[in-house]
Amino acid sequence: MTTSATLSTSPATDGAPTIDLGPAVALSCRECGHRVDLGPFYACTECFGPLEVAYQFASSGEELRAAIEAGPDNIWRWAPLLPVPPGIASTPNINPGNTKLIRADNLARELGMKTLWVKDDSGNPTHSFKDRVVAVALAAARELGFSVLACPSTGNLANAVAAAAARAGIRSVVLVPSNLEQQKILTTAAYGGTLVAVDGNYDDINRLAGQIAAEQEDWAFVNVNVRPYYAEGSKTLGYEVAEQLGWRLPKQVVIPIASGAQLVKIDKGFTELVELGLVDASPYKVFGAQATGCSPVAAAFKAGEDVVRPVRPDTIAKSLAIGNPADGPYVLDVVRRTGGAVEDVSDDDVIDAIKLLARTEGIFAETAGGVTVATLRKLLATGALDPDEETVIFNTGDGLKTLDAIASSVGPTATIKPTLAAFEQAGLV
Ligand SMILES: Cc1ncc(COP(=O)(O)O)c(C=O)c1O
Repeated sequence: MTTSATLSTSPATDGAPTIDLGPAVALSCRECGHRVDLGPFYACTECFGPLEVAYQFASSGEELRAAIEAGPDNIWRWAPLLPVPPGIASTPNINPGNTKLIRADNLARELGMKTLWVKDDSGNPTHSFKDRVVAVALAAARELGFSVLACPSTGNLANAVAAAAARAGIRSVVLVPSNLEQQKILTTAAYGGTLVAVDGNYDDINRLAGQIAAEQEDWAFVNVNVRPYYAEGSKTLGYEVAEQLGWRLPKQVVIPIASGAQLVKIDKGFTELVELGLVDASPYKVFGAQATGCSPVAAAFKAGEDVVRPVRPDTIAKSLAIGNPADGPYVLDVVRRTGGAVEDVSDDDVIDAIKLLARTEGIFAETAGGVTVATLRKLLATGALDPDEETVIFNTGDGLKTLDAIASSVGPTATIKPTLAAFEQAGLV
Protein backbone atom coordinates (compact mmCIF):
# COMPACT_ATOMS: atom_id res chain seq x y z
CA MET A 1 0.00 0.00 0.00
CA THR A 2 1.05 3.59 -0.35
CA THR A 3 1.02 6.34 2.22
CA SER A 4 0.37 9.08 -0.30
CA ALA A 5 -3.32 8.33 -0.76
CA THR A 6 -6.17 7.26 1.44
CA LEU A 7 -7.12 3.61 1.02
CA SER A 8 -10.22 1.61 1.67
CA THR A 9 -11.52 -1.85 2.35
CA SER A 10 -15.05 -0.68 1.52
CA PRO A 11 -15.27 1.09 -1.88
CA ALA A 12 -18.17 3.48 -2.33
CA THR A 13 -20.78 2.65 -4.97
CA ASP A 14 -19.41 5.32 -7.32
CA GLY A 15 -15.97 3.67 -7.15
CA ALA A 16 -14.39 6.43 -5.03
CA PRO A 17 -12.37 5.13 -2.09
CA THR A 18 -13.94 5.61 1.35
CA ILE A 19 -12.74 5.16 4.88
CA ASP A 20 -15.40 4.75 7.50
CA LEU A 21 -13.90 5.70 10.83
CA GLY A 22 -17.12 6.80 12.45
CA PRO A 23 -17.02 10.36 13.78
CA ALA A 24 -13.37 10.90 12.72
CA VAL A 25 -13.25 13.43 9.87
CA ALA A 26 -9.57 14.33 9.47
CA LEU A 27 -6.13 14.27 11.02
CA SER A 28 -4.88 17.54 12.40
CA CYS A 29 -1.39 18.63 13.43
CA ARG A 30 -0.97 19.10 17.15
CA GLU A 31 1.61 21.83 16.49
CA CYS A 32 0.37 23.93 13.56
CA GLY A 33 -3.25 22.75 13.14
CA HIS A 34 -2.73 21.75 9.48
CA ARG A 35 -5.39 19.19 8.48
CA VAL A 36 -5.05 16.18 6.20
CA ASP A 37 -7.47 13.49 5.06
CA LEU A 38 -7.86 10.39 7.19
CA GLY A 39 -5.20 7.86 6.27
CA PRO A 40 -2.11 6.07 7.59
CA PHE A 41 -0.35 9.33 8.38
CA TYR A 42 1.26 10.38 11.64
CA ALA A 43 3.51 13.34 10.89
CA CYS A 44 2.46 16.75 9.57
CA THR A 45 3.61 17.47 6.02
CA GLU A 46 3.96 21.17 6.90
CA CYS A 47 5.93 21.12 10.17
CA PHE A 48 6.58 17.41 11.01
CA GLY A 49 4.47 17.77 14.17
CA PRO A 50 2.44 14.76 15.36
CA LEU A 51 -1.04 14.29 13.90
CA GLU A 52 -4.13 13.52 15.93
CA VAL A 53 -7.69 12.59 15.07
CA ALA A 54 -10.23 15.40 14.56
CA TYR A 55 -13.95 14.64 14.91
CA GLN A 56 -17.40 15.74 14.04
CA PHE A 57 -19.60 14.08 16.61
CA ALA A 58 -23.10 13.14 15.47
CA SER A 59 -24.92 13.93 18.71
CA SER A 60 -24.42 15.34 22.19
CA GLY A 61 -26.08 15.66 25.59
CA GLU A 62 -28.95 13.36 26.60
CA GLU A 63 -29.23 11.65 23.20
CA LEU A 64 -25.55 10.69 23.21
CA ARG A 65 -25.61 9.62 26.86
CA ALA A 66 -28.57 7.32 26.15
CA ALA A 67 -26.76 5.77 23.17
CA ILE A 68 -23.64 5.18 25.26
CA GLU A 69 -25.54 3.66 28.16
CA ALA A 70 -27.36 1.32 25.76
CA GLY A 71 -24.05 0.26 24.17
CA PRO A 72 -21.96 -2.87 24.71
CA ASP A 73 -20.34 -3.65 28.05
CA ASN A 74 -16.85 -2.80 26.75
CA ILE A 75 -15.02 0.09 25.09
CA TRP A 76 -17.28 -0.08 22.05
CA ARG A 77 -19.97 1.71 24.04
CA TRP A 78 -17.74 4.71 23.25
CA ALA A 79 -17.68 3.98 19.48
CA PRO A 80 -19.60 7.24 18.75
CA LEU A 81 -16.52 9.08 20.13
CA LEU A 82 -13.74 6.95 18.60
CA PRO A 83 -12.13 6.61 15.13
CA VAL A 84 -13.78 3.24 14.52
CA PRO A 85 -16.50 2.09 12.10
CA PRO A 86 -20.05 1.93 13.53
CA GLY A 87 -20.21 -1.90 13.30
CA ILE A 88 -17.02 -2.38 15.30
CA ALA A 89 -18.63 -4.22 18.24
CA SER A 90 -19.58 -7.15 16.02
CA THR A 91 -16.09 -7.72 14.52
CA PRO A 92 -13.84 -10.37 16.10
CA ASN A 93 -11.81 -8.61 18.75
CA ILE A 94 -10.93 -9.10 22.40
CA ASN A 95 -13.36 -6.42 23.64
CA PRO A 96 -11.39 -4.65 26.38
CA GLY A 97 -12.76 -1.97 28.70
CA ASN A 98 -15.36 -1.44 31.38
CA THR A 99 -12.80 -2.34 34.03
CA LYS A 100 -13.53 -1.77 37.70
CA LEU A 101 -13.38 1.56 39.48
CA ILE A 102 -12.64 0.42 43.01
CA ARG A 103 -13.23 2.59 46.06
CA ALA A 104 -9.98 2.34 48.03
CA ASP A 105 -11.04 3.28 51.56
CA ASN A 106 -8.35 1.21 53.30
CA LEU A 107 -5.56 2.80 51.29
CA ALA A 108 -7.16 6.23 51.70
CA ARG A 109 -7.21 5.78 55.48
CA GLU A 110 -3.58 4.72 55.52
CA LEU A 111 -2.57 7.75 53.44
CA GLY A 112 -4.81 10.18 55.33
CA MET A 113 -7.07 10.84 52.34
CA LYS A 114 -10.80 11.36 52.16
CA THR A 115 -11.95 9.73 48.90
CA LEU A 116 -9.68 7.59 46.76
CA TRP A 117 -10.53 5.35 43.79
CA VAL A 118 -8.38 2.91 41.83
CA LYS A 119 -9.27 2.52 38.16
CA ASP A 120 -8.02 -1.05 37.84
CA ASP A 121 -7.16 -1.68 34.21
CA SER A 122 -5.32 -4.89 35.04
CA GLY A 123 -8.79 -6.42 34.45
CA ASN A 124 -8.44 -6.15 30.67
CA PRO A 125 -8.06 -9.31 28.54
CA THR A 126 -4.23 -9.19 28.49
CA HIS A 127 -4.09 -7.45 31.87
CA SER A 128 -3.09 -3.92 30.96
CA PHE A 129 -4.63 -0.76 29.52
CA LYS A 130 -2.85 -1.47 26.23
CA ASP A 131 -5.78 -3.62 25.10
CA ARG A 132 -7.76 -0.37 24.72
CA VAL A 133 -5.30 1.39 22.43
CA VAL A 134 -4.69 -1.74 20.38
CA ALA A 135 -8.41 -2.35 19.88
CA VAL A 136 -8.80 1.09 18.32
CA ALA A 137 -5.56 0.79 16.32
CA LEU A 138 -6.66 -2.59 14.95
CA ALA A 139 -10.03 -1.22 13.86
CA ALA A 140 -8.34 1.69 12.06
CA ALA A 141 -5.62 -0.52 10.57
CA ARG A 142 -8.24 -2.80 9.03
CA GLU A 143 -10.20 0.12 7.66
CA LEU A 144 -6.98 1.55 6.17
CA GLY A 145 -6.23 -1.76 4.45
CA PHE A 146 -3.23 -3.03 6.46
CA SER A 147 -2.74 -6.79 6.77
CA VAL A 148 -0.20 -7.15 9.62
CA LEU A 149 -0.37 -5.70 13.13
CA ALA A 150 3.02 -4.76 14.60
CA CYS A 151 4.65 -2.72 17.37
CA PRO A 152 7.77 -1.87 19.29
CA SER A 153 6.89 -2.49 22.95
CA THR A 154 8.03 -2.25 26.54
CA GLY A 155 5.99 -5.43 27.16
CA ASN A 156 2.32 -4.80 27.72
CA LEU A 157 1.74 -3.57 24.19
CA ALA A 158 3.36 -6.77 22.89
CA ASN A 159 0.82 -8.83 24.87
CA ALA A 160 -2.07 -6.74 23.58
CA VAL A 161 -1.01 -6.73 19.90
CA ALA A 162 -0.30 -10.47 19.81
CA ALA A 163 -3.65 -11.30 21.44
CA ALA A 164 -5.74 -8.88 19.36
CA ALA A 165 -4.16 -10.06 16.10
CA ALA A 166 -4.71 -13.69 17.07
CA ARG A 167 -8.41 -13.11 17.67
CA ALA A 168 -8.75 -11.08 14.47
CA GLY A 169 -7.00 -13.81 12.48
CA ILE A 170 -4.16 -11.66 11.20
CA ARG A 171 -0.38 -11.84 11.56
CA SER A 172 1.42 -9.95 14.33
CA VAL A 173 5.06 -8.88 14.59
CA VAL A 174 6.25 -7.43 17.91
CA LEU A 175 9.69 -6.12 18.87
CA VAL A 176 10.69 -6.05 22.54
CA PRO A 177 13.89 -5.45 24.52
CA SER A 178 15.53 -8.84 25.14
CA ASN A 179 15.92 -8.05 28.87
CA LEU A 180 12.15 -7.72 29.37
CA GLU A 181 10.33 -9.50 32.21
CA GLN A 182 10.01 -13.23 31.37
CA GLN A 183 6.27 -13.15 32.13
CA LYS A 184 5.71 -10.60 29.38
CA ILE A 185 7.86 -12.47 26.86
CA LEU A 186 6.24 -15.85 27.54
CA THR A 187 2.66 -14.61 27.55
CA THR A 188 3.23 -12.74 24.28
CA ALA A 189 4.74 -15.85 22.69
CA ALA A 190 1.74 -17.92 23.79
CA TYR A 191 -0.56 -15.94 21.50
CA GLY A 192 1.54 -16.92 18.48
CA GLY A 193 2.73 -14.38 15.96
CA THR A 194 6.29 -13.22 15.44
CA LEU A 195 8.05 -12.11 18.63
CA VAL A 196 11.46 -10.53 18.14
CA ALA A 197 13.71 -9.94 21.18
CA VAL A 198 16.11 -7.11 20.40
CA ASP A 199 19.37 -6.38 22.20
CA GLY A 200 18.62 -2.75 22.89
CA ASN A 201 16.37 -0.48 24.93
CA TYR A 202 12.89 0.68 23.90
CA ASP A 203 14.18 3.81 22.22
CA ASP A 204 16.53 1.71 20.01
CA ILE A 205 13.62 -0.57 19.12
CA ASN A 206 11.29 2.30 18.38
CA ARG A 207 13.83 3.64 15.89
CA LEU A 208 14.11 0.21 14.27
CA ALA A 209 10.31 -0.06 14.05
CA GLY A 210 10.18 3.28 12.22
CA GLN A 211 12.67 1.95 9.66
CA ILE A 212 10.75 -1.31 9.18
CA ALA A 213 7.45 0.58 8.87
CA ALA A 214 8.92 2.61 6.00
CA GLU A 215 9.82 -0.62 4.17
CA GLN A 216 6.83 -2.86 4.93
CA GLU A 217 3.85 -0.97 3.57
CA ASP A 218 1.29 -3.60 4.66
CA TRP A 219 2.32 -3.47 8.33
CA ALA A 220 0.43 -1.29 10.76
CA PHE A 221 2.79 -0.44 13.61
CA VAL A 222 0.12 0.49 16.10
CA ASN A 223 2.22 3.11 17.90
CA VAL A 224 4.13 4.35 14.85
CA ASN A 225 2.28 4.66 11.53
CA VAL A 226 -1.25 4.38 12.96
CA ARG A 227 -0.38 6.18 16.19
CA PRO A 228 -3.04 8.92 15.89
CA TYR A 229 -5.82 6.29 16.02
CA TYR A 230 -4.06 4.08 18.58
CA ALA A 231 -3.62 6.91 21.09
CA GLU A 232 -7.35 7.70 21.02
CA GLY A 233 -8.06 4.38 22.78
CA SER A 234 -6.80 5.86 26.04
CA LYS A 235 -9.62 8.42 26.01
CA THR A 236 -11.89 5.58 27.09
CA LEU A 237 -10.17 5.47 30.48
CA GLY A 238 -11.29 9.04 31.10
CA TYR A 239 -14.78 8.35 29.75
CA GLU A 240 -15.25 5.28 31.93
CA VAL A 241 -14.10 6.98 35.11
CA ALA A 242 -16.59 9.80 34.52
CA GLU A 243 -19.47 7.40 33.79
CA GLN A 244 -18.58 5.19 36.76
CA LEU A 245 -18.61 8.23 39.04
CA GLY A 246 -22.17 8.96 37.88
CA TRP A 247 -21.31 11.24 34.95
CA ARG A 248 -18.97 13.64 36.70
CA LEU A 249 -15.24 14.34 36.81
CA PRO A 250 -12.95 13.62 39.77
CA LYS A 251 -10.94 16.49 41.27
CA GLN A 252 -7.50 14.87 40.96
CA VAL A 253 -6.05 12.02 38.87
CA VAL A 254 -2.64 10.34 39.07
CA ILE A 255 -1.46 8.63 35.86
CA PRO A 256 1.78 6.77 35.02
CA ILE A 257 3.88 8.12 32.15
CA ALA A 258 5.96 6.27 29.54
CA SER A 259 5.36 7.98 26.19
CA GLY A 260 2.84 10.20 27.98
CA ALA A 261 0.05 9.44 25.49
CA GLN A 262 -2.26 7.88 28.05
CA LEU A 263 -2.16 10.91 30.34
CA VAL A 264 -2.75 13.35 27.49
CA LYS A 265 -5.67 11.32 26.14
CA ILE A 266 -7.39 10.88 29.50
CA ASP A 267 -7.39 14.67 29.70
CA LYS A 268 -8.73 14.84 26.12
CA GLY A 269 -11.49 12.41 27.15
CA PHE A 270 -12.50 14.60 30.09
CA THR A 271 -12.48 17.72 27.91
CA GLU A 272 -14.67 16.10 25.26
CA LEU A 273 -17.20 14.95 27.85
CA VAL A 274 -17.59 18.54 29.01
CA GLU A 275 -17.83 19.87 25.45
CA LEU A 276 -20.47 17.26 24.59
CA GLY A 277 -22.54 18.14 27.63
CA LEU A 278 -22.14 14.67 29.19
CA VAL A 279 -20.60 16.02 32.41
CA ASP A 280 -20.63 19.44 34.05
CA ALA A 281 -17.45 21.45 33.66
CA SER A 282 -15.50 21.26 36.93
CA PRO A 283 -11.82 21.89 37.57
CA TYR A 284 -9.56 18.86 37.88
CA LYS A 285 -5.82 18.43 38.34
CA VAL A 286 -3.75 15.92 36.36
CA PHE A 287 -0.64 14.46 38.03
CA GLY A 288 1.99 12.37 36.23
CA ALA A 289 4.02 9.52 37.74
CA GLN A 290 7.49 8.34 36.72
CA ALA A 291 10.24 6.12 38.13
CA THR A 292 13.33 8.13 39.03
CA GLY A 293 15.40 5.84 36.77
CA CYS A 294 13.40 7.07 33.77
CA SER A 295 11.97 10.47 34.65
CA PRO A 296 12.61 12.92 31.80
CA VAL A 297 9.14 14.49 32.08
CA ALA A 298 9.38 14.92 35.86
CA ALA A 299 12.83 16.50 35.39
CA ALA A 300 11.50 18.98 32.83
CA PHE A 301 8.49 19.79 35.00
CA LYS A 302 10.63 20.44 38.07
CA ALA A 303 13.09 22.55 36.08
CA GLY A 304 10.23 24.61 34.65
CA GLU A 305 11.31 23.69 31.12
CA ASP A 306 9.21 22.96 28.02
CA VAL A 307 11.81 20.68 26.45
CA VAL A 308 11.95 17.05 27.62
CA ARG A 309 15.56 15.87 27.44
CA PRO A 310 15.98 12.16 26.58
CA VAL A 311 17.52 9.87 29.21
CA ARG A 312 18.86 6.29 29.23
CA PRO A 313 16.39 4.30 31.39
CA ASP A 314 17.50 2.32 34.43
CA THR A 315 14.54 1.21 36.54
CA ILE A 316 12.57 -1.90 37.52
CA ALA A 317 9.51 -0.19 36.02
CA LYS A 318 10.31 -1.50 32.55
CA SER A 319 6.87 -0.82 31.11
CA LEU A 320 7.49 2.89 31.74
CA ALA A 321 11.09 2.83 30.48
CA ILE A 322 10.82 5.19 27.52
CA GLY A 323 13.73 7.61 27.67
CA ASN A 324 12.48 9.84 24.85
CA PRO A 325 8.71 10.16 25.40
CA ALA A 326 6.84 11.29 22.28
CA ASP A 327 4.09 13.02 24.27
CA GLY A 328 6.37 14.47 26.97
CA PRO A 329 5.83 18.15 26.02
CA TYR A 330 2.05 17.62 25.81
CA VAL A 331 2.07 16.05 29.28
CA LEU A 332 3.73 19.22 30.55
CA ASP A 333 1.01 21.31 28.89
CA VAL A 334 -1.82 19.27 30.48
CA VAL A 335 -0.24 19.17 33.93
CA ARG A 336 0.53 22.90 33.95
CA ARG A 337 -2.86 23.87 32.51
CA THR A 338 -4.73 21.91 35.19
CA GLY A 339 -2.50 22.87 38.13
CA GLY A 340 -1.09 19.34 38.64
CA ALA A 341 2.52 18.15 38.83
CA VAL A 342 4.87 15.38 37.67
CA GLU A 343 6.76 13.51 40.38
CA ASP A 344 9.22 10.61 40.34
CA VAL A 345 9.89 7.82 42.82
CA SER A 346 12.72 5.38 43.57
CA ASP A 347 12.57 1.67 42.74
CA ASP A 348 12.47 0.85 46.47
CA ASP A 349 9.43 3.11 46.83
CA VAL A 350 7.81 1.33 43.87
CA ILE A 351 8.20 -2.07 45.57
CA ASP A 352 6.82 -0.71 48.86
CA ALA A 353 3.87 0.78 47.01
CA ILE A 354 3.05 -2.46 45.18
CA LYS A 355 2.91 -4.18 48.57
CA LEU A 356 0.92 -1.34 50.13
CA LEU A 357 -1.80 -1.50 47.45
CA ALA A 358 -1.95 -5.29 47.65
CA ARG A 359 -2.09 -5.29 51.47
CA THR A 360 -4.71 -2.56 51.79
CA GLU A 361 -6.97 -3.19 48.79
CA GLY A 362 -6.25 -6.68 47.46
CA ILE A 363 -5.08 -5.20 44.16
CA PHE A 364 -1.80 -6.59 42.84
CA ALA A 365 -0.26 -4.02 40.51
CA GLU A 366 2.66 -4.31 38.17
CA THR A 367 5.58 -1.93 38.59
CA ALA A 368 3.74 0.85 36.70
CA GLY A 369 0.96 0.70 39.31
CA GLY A 370 3.62 0.77 42.01
CA VAL A 371 5.04 3.93 40.45
CA THR A 372 1.57 5.49 40.55
CA VAL A 373 0.81 4.62 44.18
CA ALA A 374 4.30 5.69 45.31
CA THR A 375 3.88 8.95 43.43
CA LEU A 376 0.51 9.52 45.07
CA ARG A 377 2.19 9.10 48.45
CA LYS A 378 4.98 11.51 47.52
CA LEU A 379 2.58 14.12 46.15
CA LEU A 380 0.68 13.98 49.43
CA ALA A 381 3.93 14.40 51.37
CA THR A 382 4.99 17.43 49.31
CA GLY A 383 1.52 18.97 49.61
CA ALA A 384 1.03 19.06 45.82
CA LEU A 385 -2.03 16.79 46.04
CA ASP A 386 -4.93 17.63 48.33
CA PRO A 387 -5.88 14.71 50.64
CA ASP A 388 -9.42 16.10 51.00
CA GLU A 389 -10.26 16.17 47.28
CA GLU A 390 -11.65 13.13 45.46
CA THR A 391 -8.78 11.37 43.68
CA VAL A 392 -8.58 8.61 41.06
CA ILE A 393 -5.33 6.71 40.48
CA PHE A 394 -4.80 4.43 37.48
CA ASN A 395 -3.47 0.91 37.91
CA THR A 396 -2.59 0.12 34.33
CA GLY A 397 -1.12 -3.39 34.60
CA ASP A 398 -1.19 -6.67 36.53
CA GLY A 399 1.44 -7.61 39.12
CA LEU A 400 1.64 -11.15 37.78
CA LYS A 401 3.57 -9.68 34.85
CA THR A 402 6.38 -8.28 37.01
CA LEU A 403 6.79 -10.83 39.77
CA ASP A 404 10.57 -10.50 39.80
CA ALA A 405 10.27 -6.95 41.11
CA ILE A 406 8.95 -8.15 44.47
CA ALA A 407 10.34 -11.70 44.54
CA SER A 408 13.07 -10.89 47.07
CA SER A 409 10.84 -8.91 49.43
CA VAL A 410 7.80 -11.17 49.92
CA GLY A 411 7.40 -14.85 50.84
CA PRO A 412 5.62 -17.28 53.16
CA THR A 413 4.97 -16.26 56.78
CA ALA A 414 6.46 -19.62 57.79
CA THR A 415 7.49 -22.93 56.21
CA ILE A 416 6.51 -25.92 58.37
CA LYS A 417 6.08 -29.69 58.47
CA PRO A 418 2.42 -30.86 57.90
CA THR A 419 1.57 -31.31 61.60
CA LEU A 420 -0.58 -29.36 64.05
CA ALA A 421 2.36 -29.24 66.44
CA ALA A 422 4.56 -27.60 63.83
CA PHE A 423 1.79 -25.09 63.06
CA GLU A 424 1.46 -24.18 66.73
CA GLN A 425 5.22 -24.12 67.33
CA ALA A 426 5.61 -21.64 64.52
CA GLY A 427 3.42 -19.24 66.52
CA LEU A 428 0.71 -19.04 63.88
CA VAL A 429 -2.30 -19.10 66.22
C1 LIG B 1 1.31 -0.74 32.44
C2 LIG B 1 1.60 0.55 31.75
N1 LIG B 1 1.18 1.68 32.31
C3 LIG B 1 1.41 2.86 31.74
C4 LIG B 1 2.11 2.98 30.55
C5 LIG B 1 2.35 4.34 29.98
O1 LIG B 1 1.68 4.57 28.79
P1 LIG B 1 2.03 5.80 27.85
O2 LIG B 1 3.14 5.31 26.96
O3 LIG B 1 0.77 6.05 27.11
O4 LIG B 1 2.46 6.93 28.71
C6 LIG B 1 2.57 1.83 29.92
C7 LIG B 1 3.29 1.91 28.67
O5 LIG B 1 3.73 0.94 28.10
C8 LIG B 1 2.31 0.57 30.53
O6 LIG B 1 2.71 -0.58 29.98
